[in-house]
Amino acid sequence: MLSKSMQEALNQQVKLEAASSHAYLAMASWSDIQPGLDNVAEYFFTQSEEEREHMLKLMRFINERGGFALVPALEQPVVTFKSLKSMFADFLKHEIEVSSSINELVDQALSEKDYATHNFLQWYVSEQIEEERSARVLNDKLEMIGEDKSGLYLFDRDIMMTRQQGGKK
Ligand code: FEO
Repeated sequence: MLSKSMQEALNQQVKLEAASSHAYLAMASWSDIQPGLDNVAEYFFTQSEEEREHMLKLMRFINERGGFALVPALEQPVVTFKSLKSMFADFLKHEIEVSSSINELVDQALSEKDYATHNFLQWYVSEQIEEERSARVLNDKLEMIGEDKSGLYLFDRDIMMTRQQGGKK
């Protein structure tokens, strides 16, 4: 059985995953209307779906353990970006925030001696290592490319490989 405080903390994480899904959907849509960023758009559409899965996994866990998973209210995310680079910087910043939130949950599970939740959260710990890695790799690439148009062409062409290399679907 989840404690009240653990349940609240997990529901906060549900909200953060839903907000991530929303934020990446906005990134996908913005990329979709830029010339030559078709695969970047695809990358964020896929990423958005994945965040929704993270949310659902948490919701099922909360309910299974005798809690009540709450569907969160969401604000409109940032929908336009001044550049591709700034969008990817936001992506990394967001993933770092998610990692730190997961770490706090792990801390709380340990301090409450809630080993079932602690065990459940290990999947998210590994997932965040992977997500942060992907976001960092992409930011590093964009830094290297700068304003070079052929570099940006290759960046878009190869972006889905970043997911495959990271063991993503
Ligand atoms: Fe589910 Fe990328 O945080």
